Amino acid sequence: MSPGRLKDPSLQRPPTLEAPLLSVRGVRKAFGDHVVLDNLSLDVYAHKVVVLIGAPGSGRSTLLRCIDRLEDIDDGVIKLEGQDITDPGLDADAVRARIGTVVSADDLVPHLRVIDNVTLARRLVPTTTPEQARADALAVLERVGLSATAQALPDELSGGQRQRVAIARALVARPAIMLLDEVDPDLEVLSLLDDLKRTGLTMLVATDEMSFAREVADEVCFLYEGRVHERGTPAQVLENPRQERTREFLRRITG
Ligand SMILES: Nc1ncnc2c1ncn2[C@@H]1O[C@H](COP(=O)(O)OP(=O)(O)OP(=O)(O)O)[C@@H](O)[C@H]1O
Ligand SMILES: [Mg+2]
Repeated sequence: MSPGRLKDPSLQRPPTLEAPLLSVRGVRKAFGDHVVLDNLSLDVYAHKVVVLIGAPGSGRSTLLRCIDRLEDIDDGVIKLEGQDITDPGLDADAVRARIGTVVSADDLVPHLRVIDNVTLARRLVPTTTPEQARADALAVLERVGLSATAQALPDELSGGQRQRVAIARALVARPAIMLLDEVDPDLEVLSLLDDLKRTGLTMLVATDEMSFAREVADEVCFLYEGRVHERGTPAQVLENPRQERTREFLRRITG
């Protein structure tokens, strides 16, 4: 091995032997006779960011909704930290408390101040006192750089700030993994997500922003017809795709 290779820290780590934090195996989901997820498998390891790309209708949001228990799967298994979270015997709210979801900045409660939007999410965890919920909400707002807006109403913020509040709200219950759908990253959101990644947060993100995929992803998965058609590092999938469908998609999205 050349000295240059030895300097690369990723090559000095022992191979990953631990189980994935999130494991999706053979998942099928159909609406009527429209099969949206077709035997889809995917792993997300702890502290990694996996980005889902694909054409409209390729099933990215549906996959995230299945993980969050908003949709029931027809077949397959989804495990979070080794536990089958699709088990109908498990309370869906208890599963959701371990998953931080950011779907849209605009589902903040409009008549509640920023601090109360975040506190509300923390209070969903049954063991939390109101004082603890508020203290945690303030801490997480500080983490996303929005302490100064704690008393503002969502309407008084910019779109990017609202998005950061939605991220704060997802973070406040200290989730094992964060799912983000269609986050439209302005520079500050991008830098926040980059920062969260560096602190070790595990994320699964659906996006149309290839710049985001390029900058933040450890792995990019291209979904096509309800399956992962191609996966790899951003450099492999975005710069040097092996599959014709991926190339075609990238040509179309980059105009
Ligand atoms: N509740 C539903 N009932 C019927 N069909 C649905 C439902 N939810 C999603 N679909 C269909 O499933 C397919 C996948 O949709 P999904 O929203 O998962 O795609 P996506 O990859 O997130 O695309 P987009 O770029 O539009 O966000 C689409 O054809 C959609 O119409
Ligand atoms: Mg979608």
